Amino acid sequence: MQNFEFFNPVNIVFGQGQIKNLSTLVPSGSKIMLAYGGGSIFKNGIYNQVKAALPGFDLIEFGGIEPNPRYETLMKAVEIVKKEKIGFLLAVGGGSVLDGVKFIAAASLWEGGDPWKFLAQRSKFTVTQALPLGSVLTLPATGSEMNGNSVVTRFSTREKLSFYSKAVLPLFSILDPTVVFSLPEKQVANGVVDAFVHVIEQYLTYPVNSPIQDRFAEAIMLTLVEEGPKVLTNRTDYDAAANFMWAATMALNGLIGAGVPQDWATHTIGHELTAFHNIDHARTLAIVLPGIMQVKRENKKEKLLQFGERVWGIKTGTADERIDTTIHRTVEFFESFGIPTKLSAYGVGNESITAICDRFTQRGIQGIGERGDLTIAEIDEVLTLQL
Ligand code: NZQ
Ligand code: ZN
Repeated sequence: MQNFEFFNPVNIVFGQGQIKNLSTLVPSGSKIMLAYGGGSIFKNGIYNQVKAALPGFDLIEFGGIEPNPRYETLMKAVEIVKKEKIGFLLAVGGGSVLDGVKFIAAASLWEGGDPWKFLAQRSKFTVTQALPLGSVLTLPATGSEMNGNSVVTRFSTREKLSFYSKAVLPLFSILDPTVVFSLPEKQVANGVVDAFVHVIEQYLTYPVNSPIQDRFAEAIMLTLVEEGPKVLTNRTDYDAAANFMWAATMALNGLIGAGVPQDWATHTIGHELTAFHNIDHARTLAIVLPGIMQVKRENKKEKLLQFGERVWGIKTGTADERIDTTIHRTVEFFESFGIPTKLSAYGVGNESITAICDRFTQRGIQGIGERGDLTIAEIDEVLTLQL
C-alpha cells in the first residue's frame, strides 16, 4: 500500500424521504441559489419536494445547466451570484448540475481573472476558496456528490476539462434512491457504466499489496453487475436503486483510490470524444476502456487476471486466453446495457483520432495512465482498435 491522505467531510443523508430534511442542512440565514438542469426535476416532482422543504428561505433559481455543463452558461450564474450576494449554492440534479455548481462556487470567489484558468492551467492555478454548496442528487453515476471534482465544457473551443479542490466538496448531499424511478433507461445504463469505469480507473493498474482496497473495488463492481440490470428492468425496485446509488457514490469518493496507483487514461481520452462529438460521458468510457485493456495488457497483466477471476469468474485457460475473455466479458457487460463500444456506432471515424492525438500533442502530453507511459502513438492505437 502506498502512503495516502484521505479527507472526506461530506455529510451523506441517505434514503427515501430525506429531501424533507433540507432546511436542517442548509446554513440558516444564507441567500440560496437553487441550480438545476433542463427541467427533469419539474416532471418527477423533485423540484416540489425541494421547495416544500425550504419554506421561508430566501431563494433564487438558476436553471438550464446542460449535460456536460458549459462554461458559457455557468458564467451567467456567476454574474447573478455576485449581483445577488448569494451565500449558498444548492445543486438539484445529476453530475452535470453538481459539477456546474462547483464551478460557480469557485468562480464566484476567484480573483485571478478568467476562471477558465483553473481548468486550462490547473497545474499553475489552484482553487483554494469557494462558496459553500450542497446537493440533492437525482442521478447515480459520477460520484460528484461526495468528491471535489468538477468537469466543465467550454463550448466555443470544444474543450472539456476538470479541476479538483477540497473547497468544492459539498457540505452535504441528499441521496434519495427514489429519484432513480424517473430515470430514462439510457441514464441508468450510463450511470452503471460510469461508476464501473471509475472503479476500474483506480483498480486495473498494478498490484501494490493492498488487498483491502482491491476487495472494496471488487465489491463495488460486483454490486453494479448484480444490481444494475435489476434497476434497468424494474426502475421502482427500491433496494436495487439504493444499492446502485450507494455503489456509484462509493466508486468515486476517494476511498478506493487511497493508497493505490490510478490510471484515468480512459477518462482523459473519453473527455475528448465528448468535446468533439458530444457523446455521453459513460459511452465514451465504454468505447475507450476495451482498447486500453488491449494495448496495455502486459502492463496491467496481474490486475487483469485478478479482475477476470474475481469479477467475471474466469479461472481457466492460459494467461493470454483469460485476458482475452476478460476484455470480451467487459465489452459484453457494457453492450448488455445497450451501450455500443465501437466508434463507428457513433458515426466517428479516423479523422477524429488524428484530431484527438493532435490535441494531446499540443498540450505537451508525453504519456498518461498509472505509469505515465501510454504514449500518444498508443492513444492512436487504442482508438483505432475501437473504430
Ligand atoms: O438536465 P435535466 O433535465 O435534469 O435532465 C438530466 C439530463 O438530461 C437527466 N436526469 C437527471 N436526473 C434525472 C434525469 N431525468 C429523469 N429523472 C431524473 N431523476 O439525465 C440527463 C443527464 O444528466 P447529467 O447530469 O449530465 O448526467 P451524469 O450524472 O451522468 O453527469 C455527467 C457529467 O458528469 C461529469 C461528466 O463528464 C459529465 O459532464 N463527470 C463528473 C465527475 C465528477 N464530478 O467526479 C466524474 C465523472 O467521471 C464525470 O466525468
Ligand atoms: Zn466518469
